[in-house]
Amino acid sequence: MDPTQTFETGAQPLGTAQPSDVVEAIARLKREKNAVIMAHYYQESAIQDIADYIGDSLGLAQEGAKTDADIIVLAGVLFMGETAKILNPEKTVLVPDLAAGCSLADNCPADEFQRFIARYPDHTVVTYVNCSAEVKGLSDILCTSSNAVKIIHSIPTDRPILFAPDQHLGRYLMRVTGRDMVLWEGACMVHESFDARNIVRLKARHPDALVIAHPECPTAVLDLADHVGSTSSLLSFAKTSGARKFIVVTESGIIHQMQKACPEKQFIAAPNNESCNCAECPYMRLNTLQKIYQCLLHEEPAVELAPEVIAKALLPLERMLELSK
Ligand code: 13P
Ligand code: SF4
Repeated sequence: MDPTQTFETGAQPLGTAQPSDVVEAIARLKREKNAVIMAHYYQESAIQDIADYIGDSLGLAQEGAKTDADIIVLAGVLFMGETAKILNPEKTVLVPDLAAGCSLADNCPADEFQRFIARYPDHTVVTYVNCSAEVKGLSDILCTSSNAVKIIHSIPTDRPILFAPDQHLGRYLMRVTGRDMVLWEGACMVHESFDARNIVRLKARHPDALVIAHPECPTAVLDLADHVGSTSSLLSFAKTSGARKFIVVTESGIIHQMQKACPEKQFIAAPNNESCNCAECPYMRLNTLQKIYQCLLHEEPAVELAPEVIAKALLPLERMLELSK
C-alpha cells in the first residue's frame, strides 16, 4: 500500500493510511451505505478477515440471493459479481477490479458456445458457474463444484449431457456419476498447472499427509487425492479429518481458513510451478483492501448487465439453487 495515500469517507479525511485505517474506513462506509462484503476463499487473508461472508461459489450465490443489503461488494472474480447481479438486479453490485476475470469464463465466448451447443440439440446443457452471464443464459442448468454431482444425477439417464466449460471437472463428473458427456475443452489456469509428479514428490517427503484437491485439477492429480471437493468441502474435510497434515491442491488462499479453524494441523500448499511454493489465481489476487475501500467510496466499478441477459441467465441459475436446497 502507498503509505502516503489518504483515505476518507465523505468529508472525513483519515490522514496517512495504515492497514487499520483502511479497515476502519471500510467498516464505516459499509455502515453508512448498508453494504455487505462477500469474499471467496481465494482472496488474500486481509480481505477474508474483513468479509461479512466467506464462501465457495455456491455459498456466495446462495448468500447473494438472500441479502437485504443495498450494496454488495463481491470480493472475488467478475462471474461471481455477475451471479450476484442476476439475483439482485435492483441492487448495486461492486467488483473491486473489473479485470478480475477467469480463464474458464474468458475461453468460452458466448457466440462460439452457441455454435457448439447447436451441434448437440438433444443434449441437456449443464454449465459450471465459472462463465459469463451470456453463456449462463444459453444453458439449461448451472452447477458449482459443490453441487455438480447432484445436478448431473437430477438429469434423466436417457438424456445426453453437454458439460462446459471445465473439461477436468467434466471428466471427474463422468467418472463419479458414470454418465457420458460431451465436453467443452476449457480449463482453469491455476488448477491445470498442478503436476502429478510434484504431488508425488511432496507426498514422498510427507508420507503422513493426506492429499486434498479441487476437481478443476487434471485427472492424474485427482488420482492421487484422498479427498476431492469444492473449496468448502476441502475446508470441512480438513476440519473433521483425524489427519494432522494435508497437501492442499487448490488456490492457496483457502489455507487461511484451514489454519484458522485448525491451528494444530499443518497445511502444505501444493506447488504449481518449479519456482513457487503456492498457487495463486492472478485474477482473484487483483483485489486489495485499498480497492475495496475505493469501490465502496465511489460505488464503482459496478456490474452492469442488460435486462434481457439477466432474464435469460436467471432461469438456469434458479434451477440450480432450487436443487441445492
Ligand atoms: P469453488 O469455491 O466453488 O469450489 O470454486 C473454485 C473456483 O475456482 C472459484 O473460482
Ligand atoms: Fe477462474 Fe481458476 Fe481463478 Fe477460479 S482459480 S477464478 S477457476 S482462473
